[in-house]
Amino acid sequence: MTVVEQLEITQEIKKLKTEKNAVILAHNYQLPEVQDIADFIGDSLGLSQAAAKTDADIIVFCGVHFMAETASIICPEKRVLLPDLEAGCSLAATINAEQLRQWKSEHPNAVVVSYVNTTAEVKAESDYCCTSTNALKVIQAIPPDREILFLPDMFLGAYLQRVTGRKMHIWPGECHVHAGIRPRDIEAMRAAHPEADMLVHPECGCSSSCMYYQATGALKGEMHILSTEGMVKHARQSPAQEFIVATEVGILHRLKKEATGKTFYPANERAICEYMKKITLEKVLRSLREEIYEVRVPEPTASKARRAIERMLAIV
Ligand code: 13P
Ligand code: SF4
Repeated sequence: MTVVEQLEITQEIKKLKTEKNAVILAHNYQLPEVQDIADFIGDSLGLSQAAAKTDADIIVFCGVHFMAETASIICPEKRVLLPDLEAGCSLAATINAEQLRQWKSEHPNAVVVSYVNTTAEVKAESDYCCTSTNALKVIQAIPPDREILFLPDMFLGAYLQRVTGRKMHIWPGECHVHAGIRPRDIEAMRAAHPEADMLVHPECGCSSSCMYYQATGALKGEMHILSTEGMVKHARQSPAQEFIVATEVGILHRLKKEATGKTFYPANERAICEYMKKITLEKVLRSLREEIYEVRVPEPTASKARRAIERMLAIV
């Protein structure tokens, strides 16, 4: 796309947004040009909060399907549009409602905590939802004598187990993008940039080794396990100048824009979520123009899932 074409599409999107009282929400992994036209950019929790607050009639959700579903469950009176229905999530696809019902039947007294990267049907079978921002607080809010089923991300589950010291049953799911950031990637980056701080998403396959390096004093810089929004906030405030970033590379656009003058190295530059990248400027324009593709969760699934999401929104 030429610069002129991009400008024309951007202007058309802005015009339609005003005409239709629409708002554009974008996740931190979206393409730079999509982030740049968004009214709000954030992580899963921030996007849910933004959806809950907006008084727009239409939400164009630039993210993946479970995020648009969550927005629609929170705001059933609004039209939530996903510009490409193929924007899925490999992690959310690791468990379905039937599998969860079976797991629950094996642990009838357990509290079910589902990471937000799940389908609405799975949320409807859950007691609590959580995101990478508030997962720790959600686990801490559950009475210590209760058994917990945590799903679907095993790396986030293992991290929570380690920091809370609490044993949980963990579903063996993973995100292919984060699981692909391996300890050897971190080793190579640490050797190349020994002074840099490390920002690590808890879904990463390398999160255990990063915690081990930190615990054994093997790091010169600091190591922080954070949600994508937590990374942006941390990088803005920190006196550090260099960061190794272990998550999907889309976040680098925001980091460079909002923590100007600092240097960011992707832990693995091939950590690209092809689902997030399905959303392009052209598809956002088409979505607004034709009001496609509406994501709406049917009842009673929506009401059941809403309970778990509302409990999550109450614990921040
Ligand atoms: P955040 O909520 O930290 O942005 O993570 C969402 C996600 O899909 C990570 O892959
Ligand atoms: Fe899902 Fe992984 Fe993509 Fe996040 S990065 S949306 S968890 S596939």
